[in-house]
Amino acid sequence: MSVVILGIESSCDDAGAALCIDGRVVANIVSTQLQHAQYGGVVPELASRRHQVLVPLVVKEALAQSGIPKSALTAVAFTAGPGLIGSLLVGTSFAKGLALGLGLPLVAVNHLCGHILSVFIDEPKPSFPFLCLTVSGGHTTLSVVEDYLTYQTVGTTLDDAAGEAFDKCAKLLGFPFPGGAQIDKQSVGGDPHYLPLPTPDVGGYDFSFSGLKTAFLYTLQKKVKANPNFIPEHLQDICASLQNRIVTFLLDKLFAYADKTGIKQAAVVGGVSANRALRSGFKEGCAARGMQGFIPAFEYCTDNAAMIALTGYHQFRMGQTCEHTLTPWPG
Ligand code: KG4
Ligand code: ZN
Repeated sequence: MSVVILGIESSCDDAGAALCIDGRVVANIVSTQLQHAQYGGVVPELASRRHQVLVPLVVKEALAQSGIPKSALTAVAFTAGPGLIGSLLVGTSFAKGLALGLGLPLVAVNHLCGHILSVFIDEPKPSFPFLCLTVSGGHTTLSVVEDYLTYQTVGTTLDDAAGEAFDKCAKLLGFPFPGGAQIDKQSVGGDPHYLPLPTPDVGGYDFSFSGLKTAFLYTLQKKVKANPNFIPEHLQDICASLQNRIVTFLLDKLFAYADKTGIKQAAVVGGVSANRALRSGFKEGCAARGMQGFIPAFEYCTDNAAMIALTGYHQFRMGQTCEHTLTPWPG
């Protein structure tokens, strides 16, 4: 008998619902909240209120898209954390209500496990073990993925996440939130070595981005003092330089670990894996070492429910269901 999982994602400002049958994604709906751009960041209270409206709608839409009746569901999987507590509570409560009403088991999914397993949504898929760099707005982690649900952390950020660094620097340039994709877009044709920016000085396989952000701010201030039109005149070069520094830092760590261990497969997942320089640098680095590299399709890089449904499927197979008393974990 097929295992049909409904996945619900509401950890931040994207509301998502997806269905997977025996680990194959058959519907994936996401509704991105645009209201936060004007505030320069996600406003948690507004995000959770909007989720109250969006979560039921995306679930309805995903069911309609798949043609699967509610009666055919095996279990309901939902993002239980990490994320914004108000946003998580909306998805969690909806999942609980639906599971209770339909008499179905509940599966609580860690959002970061979801990002890691997003690399299994489409072909080609990696085999175990593989090295995985998770780069999102809230997290930057290098881990060895030993099995669908078993990961060993190799390194993590000591302060800001890579996406956060993109977004904070983008804000300094006047881009609306989230500015990572704007930096990517404006980098095209820019000189990646134009602006002298430091490489964060962190040992081992950990990451740090707060010093880079501060250096970026001070460099811009100095340049703008000398030439008030510096930013508009050199926007592409500025974006390309910042992007190059972040991407090089990430990839240097990933490949240093790969070179040390001889691991032959690697993946990059999470919102920042949508970045074109990161994608091409990663592919080049893998090719140079005879490694196989995997990156999810764009729609599965940023937050989505397909990865939650798929992770829910693997947890359900392992008997990892949860009680209705479970409360979401924000951190
Ligand atoms: O995974 P995600 O959708 O949400 C979190 O779990 O945080 O990641 C969002 C992050 C944001 O910081 C956004 O600016 C960044 O991913 N991002 C990008 C690009 N597209 C999204 N950063 C750089 N280049 C991009 N093309
Ligand atoms: Zn995410």
